[in-house]
Amino acid sequence: MPFPTETIKRYIAARYPILYLVSLEEDRVERMLSLLGSRLFTSPIKFYTWSCINGLRSNGIEIENTNDLIQALDRITREEETGFYLFKDLHFFLNDPRLIRKLREVYRALRTSYKTLFILSPSLNLPNELEREVTVIDIGLPDADEAGKIFDLVINSNKDFEKIQSSLNPTIREKCIRAMLGLGSMEMELALIKILLGRESIGEESIEAILEEKAQLVRKSGTLEFVRTRIGLDDIGGLENLKEWLRTRALAFSSEAKRFGLDMPKGVLLMGISGCGKSLCAKAVATAWDLPLLRLDLNQVYSGAFGSPEEAFRKSIKTVEAIAPCVMWIDEIEAGITRSGEKASDSPASRIFGYFLTWMQEREHAVFITATANQIDLLPPEILRKGRFDEIFFVPLPSHKERKEIFRIHLLRRGRNPDSFDLDSLAKNTDGLSGAEIEQAVVTALFDSFSKGKELDERELIIASSSIVPLSITMREEISKLERWSSNRAVKASK
Ligand SMILES: Nc1ncnc2c1ncn2[C@@H]1O[C@H](COP(=O)(O)OP(=O)(O)OP(=O)(O)O)[C@@H](O)[C@H]1O
Ligand SMILES: [Mg+2]
Repeated sequence: MPFPTETIKRYIAARYPILYLVSLEEDRVERMLSLLGSRLFTSPIKFYTWSCINGLRSNGIEIENTNDLIQALDRITREEETGFYLFKDLHFFLNDPRLIRKLREVYRALRTSYKTLFILSPSLNLPNELEREVTVIDIGLPDADEAGKIFDLVINSNKDFEKIQSSLNPTIREKCIRAMLGLGSMEMELALIKILLGRESIGEESIEAILEEKAQLVRKSGTLEFVRTRIGLDDIGGLENLKEWLRTRALAFSSEAKRFGLDMPKGVLLMGISGCGKSLCAKAVATAWDLPLLRLDLNQVYSGAFGSPEEAFRKSIKTVEAIAPCVMWIDEIEAGITRSGEKASDSPASRIFGYFLTWMQEREHAVFITATANQIDLLPPEILRKGRFDEIFFVPLPSHKERKEIFRIHLLRRGRNPDSFDLDSLAKNTDGLSGAEIEQAVVTALFDSFSKGKELDERELIIASSSIVPLSITMREEISKLERWSSNRAVKASK
């Protein structure tokens, strides 16, 4: 999302005197507002900042007796000239009834002027009483344009990067900028300097390093995980329908697809039996489409450790949007949107769910969602309605042919030649086993052979398979319920 300069301008022109800007990036907001103030009016206006430590300041000059918030606000109403006033950390004070009253008075006093009060805060904490007076504007993270400017500024204004400058080509520049998306402007700058110092050119390893830096910073945000994976569609045995669907859309986020008139795919919901490859598919989409993968952890969203659930969710979405085009993976979505004991219509879960549905519907960003679910009865019908997800896939237990492929993949992965095994007989002996159980059988058989001091053979694999009590037996009823449900509501992921 670009910096919302145009939106802010429009509000100022319409004389909205109090704007609440939600952003983690104080420096960036300060810089942009000060720039706006110097350009918006016929002559540059004064730009003030306020903090509880420094009081009101303009151009580094402190204005006396303004450390107290009420006095500082008083000062604004008395000021004759047009000006921008940026108040930091006000969210800490917004529970004070005196402040709420004062802000309502400021609103009335400034309504007829072009003086604007900006509340800048990393999170949204607006008392109901101020909802009419205060306008909230979300400042997203820098978009590709802004990231490009930051990139150029770092490269061109630093003597250490002269060599990089001369060897740079547009493709590498583009790749670097893509890798930076999802970071704040300061983080972008610091990461670039840290990674490029001492280098003479930018290569794949620098881009890897930027991605690694981003992975760490995103992890710190707590609710998102930047998943780096090499799992591709070839690592999935079977599920041909789903794979075909994904292959057909591999270039769906390209500019060519847009020109061709294709709608961007929204996402898929994968339902099905545990261990049959849902998470595997979520990862493979990202690899197959060459897009970054972000896993949203709904448990962390609700944990309260990262602000109120709504706040944490909104912030995660902002980060994901900044990284777009990307794949957002939500595992066990049913657990996140229907929390036991929270059925009331204004619970955090239902508010988040409402926000999520609207976001999915109206979203302009290239974010592809892969959601997985095991328990359909917990899913609210709204999410299953056509138009939310492009398709709902049912991921069943693997067929005979699919079990052969799964054996092949896992034998190969462990350095065995699959063609030296009778895959047909292995598949025959593992009816009812899931992909995860087949993998477990291979691992167990390898251990057993190793401890017996012999090479792995079918016999060992069959013994290991038969010792597994499959979920398809222990959970027979749930599974047949799931199969019945999906028979007319979902598309089978297997051919
Ligand atoms: N179709 C498959 N092809 C190859 N390997 C598979 C397949 N299905 C499962 N596996 C193996 O089993 C592991 C577990 O599968 P995965 O995590 O994708 O299951 P899941 O459907 O997400 O299960 P859960 O509902 O328990 O999360 C995978 O990492 C993979 O090694
Ligand atoms: Mg899973």
